[in-house]
Amino acid sequence: MDKSKIEALNKKFEKAGTEDVLTYFIENFRSKIAFSSSLGLEDQVLTHMICNIDKSVKFFTLDTGRLFPETYRLIDETNKKYNIKIEMYFPDYKKVEKMVLENGLNLFYESVEKRKLCCRVRKLTQLPRAFNGLDAWMSGIRKDQTVTRFYSKMIEWDDDNNLLKINPLINWNEKEVWQYIKDNKIPYNSLHDKGFSSIGCQPCTRAVKPGEDKRAGRWWWEEPLNKECGLHQK
Ligand code: ADX
Ligand code: SF4
Repeated sequence: MDKSKIEALNKKFEKAGTEDVLTYFIENFRSKIAFSSSLGLEDQVLTHMICNIDKSVKFFTLDTGRLFPETYRLIDETNKKYNIKIEMYFPDYKKVEKMVLENGLNLFYESVEKRKLCCRVRKLTQLPRAFNGLDAWMSGIRKDQTVTRFYSKMIEWDDDNNLLKINPLINWNEKEVWQYIKDNKIPYNSLHDKGFSSIGCQPCTRAVKPGEDKRAGRWWWEEPLNKECGLHQK
């Protein structure tokens, strides 16, 4: 991919419908593009749309080993409903065992450094395997989710992974996401009905109170500027 074309692509798709953006990249990259899903609301919208375009796209999730039972149930439900197989990538057991031996099972509460170490070991070390042979990947991030995502573009160059990154829902708001989910009867994590707005690993996610920021329940003991696992920003 010629990086100099990214700006022109962003311009081209500035006002395009999300399905048109997906169709363009799926048709142009075929077996060289994958969708990285955490089974979040946005990811479920994208899974639904991608399945309407081409079910042979690679869907994958990074299983940290600390996900909620509800998330595992949703993986099954999604696979069944769309007749797909979301590929599960597990972390390197040697790295997990070493980290836990040296720092304990719940190291993430002790410091930002230890939390980032856990995210790196349990989530990021699988990425090279998941991205192997690809030229592009798709993610469900939205601009208004976090301060750290505000400057993200729909089409970006991912320097860390040396891949083109497409964020088709970058300009959607939460209301639009929920509306699409309801209108299309898309399966979603049952925890959303129990006050959980953004869902990651079980020990690092809590429900939010009415009026609280939607991501307040993610790594709730940390400052908003730290709240990234390294998949999108360091
Ligand atoms: S996180 O970095 O804070 O955990 P978030 O939960 O907002 O991310 O999800 C944003 C996007 O990151 C998702 O739409 C998805 O593309 C990707 N993502 C996050 N977690 C995972 C995961 N465990 N496996 C695959 N993709 C993920
Ligand atoms: Fe570890 Fe928490 Fe990051 Fe999951 S979110 S990988 S449990 S620090």
